[in-house]
Formats: sequence, structure tokens, C-alpha cells
Amino acid sequence: MSQGPAIPQVPAATTIKPTDLRGILKYIPRFRDQIFVIALDGAVVADSNLLNLLLDIAVLRSLTIKVVLVHGISKQLTELAESCGVTLSNADGTGVTDPATLDLAVRASARVSHLVLEGLTQNGLKCAITNAIRALPTGVIKGVDQQGTGKVHRIEKDTLGHLIAADIIPIIQPIGFSTNGHTLRINSDLLAIEVAEALGATKVIYLSTQEGLVIDGDLKRDISVQTLTKVLDQAPHTIASSARSKALHSVKGIESGIPRVHLIDGRIYDALLNEVFSSEGVGTLIYGNDYQQIRQATRSDVHFIQSLTSSGVKREELLSRDESTTENNIEPFYVFEIDENIVACVTLQFYPDRPDVAEIGSLYVMPFHKKRGVGRKMVEFAALRAQERGAKQLIALSTQNPTFFTSVCGFEESDKSSLPSARLKTYESNGRNAKVLLRELK
Ligand SMILES: CC(C)(COP(=O)(O)OP(=O)(O)OC[C@H]1O[C@@H](n2cnc3c(N)ncnc32)[C@H](O)[C@@H]1OP(=O)(O)O)[C@@H](O)C(=O)NCCC(=O)NCCS
Repeated sequence: MSQGPAIPQVPAATTIKPTDLRGILKYIPRFRDQIFVIALDGAVVADSNLLNLLLDIAVLRSLTIKVVLVHGISKQLTELAESCGVTLSNADGTGVTDPATLDLAVRASARVSHLVLEGLTQNGLKCAITNAIRALPTGVIKGVDQQGTGKVHRIEKDTLGHLIAADIIPIIQPIGFSTNGHTLRINSDLLAIEVAEALGATKVIYLSTQEGLVIDGDLKRDISVQTLTKVLDQAPHTIASSARSKALHSVKGIESGIPRVHLIDGRIYDALLNEVFSSEGVGTLIYGNDYQQIRQATRSDVHFIQSLTSSGVKREELLSRDESTTENNIEPFYVFEIDENIVACVTLQFYPDRPDVAEIGSLYVMPFHKKRGVGRKMVEFAALRAQERGAKQLIALSTQNPTFFTSVCGFEESDKSSLPSARLKTYESNGRNAKVLLRELK
């Protein structure tokens, strides 16, 4: 009889409390019917946290998020080779796959898929292993025949689409089939991205035994694809070699249109749910274009903007506004989102009598996300928008952080004579005596 994975023993790193369900509810309309490709390394499938992870996947399914599972096999393949006394030509599907390695890869794949099938069944989920991955032999690279190693040729989207529509989770092995039906071994990091691209998934979530993406010893909580591309081009050695493949494939995936890729430690209890449903996350989020994260606020954001800025108002860093004032004047607000969570806001005001001037205000960055370039990005975004609308000068009024504008964002200290007349009136009546800062827009 098959021995399922052991009862999970891993202690909770961070736990979602039942009260957080209210918080989770807000994600339901945003994530409804989206496809998440979840890529499990073989080492994660072997870990005692697997059953918790599959339970988390059941939670995602219950929230109408469509899930496709891709799994790796390196750990099991290496163990199998050791027990059989076989020397592997390559363990991760990126180098040569000789016939003995291919044979063991098929066996390891069957074992890993079975563990996943078993765990999903225990959580009441329907699932199926498919032959939806059509592959071509990688061929000869730098004079070396890669033998049984393959690259993705085509993904049978219809097959996967039918399964997903029938509420069946496709389980994708790191194995493809050539046009004549022969088996080829495919790297699972690459495969997850290819599947996500083909299905138009909104996320790839890599679950490995690493805490996230560590660059130069520093765990990145979020990183833009531009910054990561630069690191991969100029200093690839600063990324641990074990994470480089995922970093490279994440960049490829985002460049081809997948909005977000997450790297998280699949051994941590609740990591998956915390990453998806909290603004702070537990691993690393890799995201696309910097300014794509900034959008105009809508009325449904009002409550969140109020609670975001309330501590800034208490400390008199920001001017107080009540909820209905914000709601009736939502148009100038822009919000910065990280993975669907608002983490910062800013306003951009225009004055009919002074079309050459725009004012940036209510700039607030959530404490956890400070010092990561969000504030600067919001200011640069506002400057671009102001310029597009024909403004020649951007003004900011600040009581407690004028040096942020002057030393970081290129503003200079000015005086109240720079203010449009309507703004001058409120400036004089509110008694805050904020510093007037001005930046010429070129
Ligand atoms: C000021 C604020 C918007 C900065 O946001 P942020 O996302 O942390 O800023 P960034 O990460 O883009 O920039 C950080 C840089 O600004 C510097 N910085 C932040 N506040 C500063 C200040 N008051 N004076 C000088 N430099 C400051 C940081 O030291 C850092 O410099 P570094 O990159 O050389 O390390 C944020 O701290 C905040 O929300 N403060 C409370 C509200 C507020 O005062 N708003 C402005 C008035 S409208």
C-alpha cells in the first residue's frame, strides 16, 4: 500500500487568523476565474508540508481561482539514481538526458505525480495527469547531443481548458511527448512558464525550498523585472545558483505577458495563502513594468485610502480629510498596488486658472513598504502625468518631510507666491505652514 506524506509537523511562520477572512473576501472579485500556475519542486512534494499546501490549493479553488499544477522531480530522480546505482547525465532537465536517466525520470515522475494525486484526493479535489505537453528534442547544443532532453513545442490548451472548466486540476509532469509519441524530459521551471503563457495565467507561483530570491545576501520581497534583468545581465553571481533558473524563467515569463511570478518556500505552513492574500507576502514577488503598478483610484478604494493615510494624518504629516470628502474627490487619487494590495497613494491636482501648475499631495507609503523606491516612483509618475497634461511646474506642500522632495525628488524650496490663487487661500487658512516645494518639469 502506498505511504502518503507524513502528517505535517512544520510550525507556523505566520498564520492567517479566521478574522482575516474578511481581508480575503476582498480578493475574490479580483481573482475570480483567474488561472494560477503553481510549480512544486520535487523537494516540496517530498516535504511534510505537502498536505497543508494542497489544502491551501483547495482554498484557492473554493475561491474560484483556477489552478494548474506543474511539478519537478530532481530530488526524487537523484535519490532513485543513488538507490539504483545509476550515474545521472543530468538531474534537472537542462543538460543531456541519456536513456538511463530518461528511464529513471519517467519513474520518478510517476511517483511524484502519484503523491500529488493522493494529496489532492485527500482534500476532495478532482485532478488528472495529462499528455498535453508536446515537445521537440532540444537537439545538439555546442556540439553535444542533448538526447532525451526536450523543449516545449506546443501545449494542448484545449485539453487543459476542458479539464479546468470541468473543475479538474491538471497535473503536469516535467515530461513531454514528441510528434512520434516518444518521451522527452523537460525542465519544470521552464514548463511552468510555458504553461502559464499558453493558458493566459495571471500568476506563476514557484514553490521551492528557498525562502525567495536572495540577491547579494538580501532577500528581496519584491523586485521589478527591469531590476532583475539588470542583475542577471551584470552580476548573475549575486543570485544563488539554485535560484538562477527560476529568476531567468520569471523574467522570460513576465516579458511574454504573465503579470506576476512569486518565489516562495513551500515548506512553510500557510506560505501560499499568506503570499496570495496579504499585502506583505512571505517570499519574493517579481512584477512587470514599474508604472503598471500605479492606477487611478476608484470609489471602492476610498475606505482603504482612509485607513492607509490615517496614521500620517495623526502625525500631521498629511492633511486630514473625511471619508466622504475623499469619496467625492476621488479623481486626483492614484494608488500603488503590489499584487492587488494598495500600499501607497498620492494625489495630483490641477488648477483651472493655472494650467502650468500641478500639485502633488497626500503622498503616503505603508511603513512595511518604505525605502523600496515606492515614494520616488509615485512622484516620478505624478511628474510624468502632470507633464502630459501640459503642466510646467510641480508643487508639493510638506510639513515634516520636505527633504524627501528636495534631496530625493529634485524639488527646490520656494514660497507661497508660487501657489495658484485658489490654493493660496486654503494654504493661508489651514495654518499648517507647510514648506512650499517646486520642481520645474522638463
Ligand atoms: C516620505 C515617503 C513618501 C517616502 O517614501 P519611500 O517609499 O520610503 O521613499 P523611496 O523608497 O522612494 O525613497 C527612499 C529614499 O528617500 C529617503 N527619504 C525618505 N524620507 C526622507 C526624508 N524625510 N528626508 C530625506 N530623505 C528621505 C530615504 O532615506 C531613501 O534614500 P536612499 O534611497 O538614499 O536610501 C514616506 O516615508 C512616507 O509615506 N512618509 C509619511 C507621509 C509623508 O510624509 N508624505 C510626504 C508629505 S505629502
